[in-house]
Amino acid sequence: MQGRRTTISAALIATACLAGGVHAAEGDAAAAKDKRSMCIGCHGIPGYRTTFPSVYHVPKLGGQHAAYLVKALQAYKSGERSHPTMQGIAEGLSEQDMADLAAYYAQAGK
Ligand code: HEC
Repeated sequence: MQGRRTTISAALIATACLAGGVHAAEGDAAAAKDKRSMCIGCHGIPGYRTTFPSVYHVPKLGGQHAAYLVKALQAYKSGERSHPTMQGIAEGLSEQDMADLAAYYAQAGK
């Protein structure tokens, strides 16, 4: 019995890895579902041009590499990359939030 259970869970893990594609980031796109509600207003998909704040050009996130997105968010948080809005947002994100959001947006453009 024990042996059989182990086999089944190993198979599930293997399937999840294949489906996930990006392993390195450890981001969970599904977990980003609630977190991205605060990004949608500005980084909507597919209409990524926002009406607020209309003076800004808002980059499209969907389809960008997860590693790039995480790096960008970390750079806003650390102040290395400065933009008042995104710094304010990134300050509230944990490493896991960033990885999850990046995993979501990396998939979203495809
Ligand atoms: C109030 C509008 C607004 C909200 C809300 C917002 N962003 Fe942004 N975001 C921007 C703008 C404007 C830029 C471009 C800033 C710049 O020039 O550096 C940007 C840039 C970025 C970049 C860098 C993209 C690139 O191509 O370099 C990432 C990544 C990003 N945002 C992620 C997020 C995530 C994730 C959320 C939600 C947690 C979010 N943003 C919420 C306006 C917003």
